[in-house]
Amino acid sequence: MISTAKEIDHAVAVLKAGGLVAFPTETVYGLGASARNEDALSRIFTVKNRPTNNPLIVHLADKEEMEKWASDISKLAWRLADRFWPGPLTMILRKNANVSKTVTGGLETIALRVPNQPIALALLRVFGDGIAAPSANKFGRTSPTTAEHVREDLGDTIDFILDGGTCEVGIESTILDLSTHEPALLRPGGLTKEEIESCLGSSVPFRYSNEIRCPGQYPRHYAPQARVVLANAENFKETINEFLSQGLRVGVLALPEHQAPPPKVAWIPVSQKVGAFAISLYAALRELDRRNLDIIVSALPLEEGIGLAVADRLRRAAGKGNIIKGEKVA
Ligand code: TXA
Ligand code: MG
Repeated sequence: MISTAKEIDHAVAVLKAGGLVAFPTETVYGLGASARNEDALSRIFTVKNRPTNNPLIVHLADKEEMEKWASDISKLAWRLADRFWPGPLTMILRKNANVSKTVTGGLETIALRVPNQPIALALLRVFGDGIAAPSANKFGRTSPTTAEHVREDLGDTIDFILDGGTCEVGIESTILDLSTHEPALLRPGGLTKEEIESCLGSSVPFRYSNEIRCPGQYPRHYAPQARVVLANAENFKETINEFLSQGLRVGVLALPEHQAPPPKVAWIPVSQKVGAFAISLYAALRELDRRNLDIIVSALPLEEGIGLAVADRLRRAAGKGNIIKGEKVA
């Protein structure tokens, strides 16, 4: 049931008292705490089992609030905020001196975003300050896209859950580093690289930092229990048959175009349209995981538009060494 205004008021009271509230955003559910409350911030790391040097995104009600958290905000950052906020874009900027290093994982930069979800925006407006929120799942697992997923993962360990139904985008925000002179993409996500580039009028490189700061940048992340294997159209059937012949329980996530699901495998139909695939990706991985499979085999979408983020999450769910080489997959 979608949460009411009364429940949003209750959530605000919980946050003000230093509690943890999970709430819907357009991307995935977040696990929120007051971004100014040290104890509440520490609890986020404990509950999620997340390394404390892993910085959190601070969610804001409005772009004007950026200045309370960040300094040296460039013209480009304002332009992106005007164009894409509220929306699935997280910007990394230089932090203000008064911002706690607990929220930034010890860094001098801060991640900010204005989510495009009515319950999230109402919560932020009534709360009246920044809410730090990582995805509301245990560290390393798939992100939640329904309130039920949050309950499954974090249940009684948090204080309140706001329900906004299924998330509209289904995949985390795009992270763009604007803290230096050269903007760089740190994580592909709900806002496409193409849209950012057209707004900036120049191409934006990908940058994986050497320091492991982005959990999105850990080798195996967003992962279900079963092993995830990526295969392409040419070797898809053969890959599945090989696993079946080893007596393994096999499930299929996304099929290559024009291929029918093979017999004797668990299959959750996901859309060939990549936007719809993004929405159902995490729910489908969770559902396949409930079936006690050894292996989940998936094809990759074309890596353009939101397909870039979907493919990124599938590669991370698979981890290194689990990718079967082929033209499209390598
Ligand atoms: O869509 C989303 O972004 C969701 C919703 C809830 O807003 N949040 C989310 O949070 O995905 P989380 O914590 O799961 O991922 C946030 C990412 C992490 O990879 C973190 O390392 C990165 O943002 N990050 C945060 N602050 C950073 C900084 N100062 N520099 C580089 N990366 C940063
Ligand atoms: Mg996460």
